[in-house]
Amino acid sequence: MEIRLLKKVTLFKSLEEKELEKIANLSSFHKYKKESIILMEAEAGNSLFIISKGRVKISRISDEGKEVILAILKEGDFFGEMSLLNGHVRSANVTAIEDSELLMLKRNDFFNLLHSHPELSINLLKELAKRIRMSDTQIKSLSLLDAVSRVASAVIQLVEIGGTIREGKMIIEKLPSQQDLANMAGTSRETVSRAFKLFIEEGYIVKKGDKIVIEKFEKFKHLYK
Ligand code: CMP
Repeated sequence: MEIRLLKKVTLFKSLEEKELEKIANLSSFHKYKKESIILMEAEAGNSLFIISKGRVKISRISDEGKEVILAILKEGDFFGEMSLLNGHVRSANVTAIEDSELLMLKRNDFFNLLHSHPELSINLLKELAKRIRMSDTQIKSLSLLDAVSRVASAVIQLVEIGGTIREGKMIIEKLPSQQDLANMAGTSRETVSRAFKLFIEEGYIVKKGDKIVIEKFEKFKHLYK
């Protein structure tokens, strides 16, 4: 079961099955219920996590209790590498937004792997570059766009993280809660609701429960970027 998952992890994509088996044996398995806190900002960090099932949000919270969501990670993604790499405390909170299952790898085992398989470091750098790009887009969105465009930008980010294409349409199977969308877009739940009403009225989005279909994704992206 871990091998099936490890094959999907971009970080480990260059490894042979035998190596993946070793990683599976080194790692421990943990379950988290929806809403439970997995890591807290400013704690010491000693392990790397790989998402076997579910989704987590990466966030920071202001002194007033306001949350900003930096990223949403899904099955096959990893987190917790930053404090392992530079020895600082955890840079953000990590919370399960669905019932989630994780594999945990200890610091020493992670470093041994990086030393014995240099191609893993390249995979890691590629993923970190992708995350910086996403953060750059989010900084631009939060500082330069109006609230409705910021909601659109959060939707576009969700498509880029894990949307599926069917018959030329983009589909997000499980939209995060309205509050989480608001915290991604730096706005209120009311504005998220107003923005979705507008996207639906304009014919860009069809909503079916927590699934959305974006009919004209390229036009939507162009209009709200
Ligand atoms: P670490 O600092 O150990 O613990 C929190 C984790 O959240 C961090 O490692 C990264 O894995 C993850 N993280 C922090 N910031 C971002 C971001 N902007 N995008 C994606 N993941 C992040």
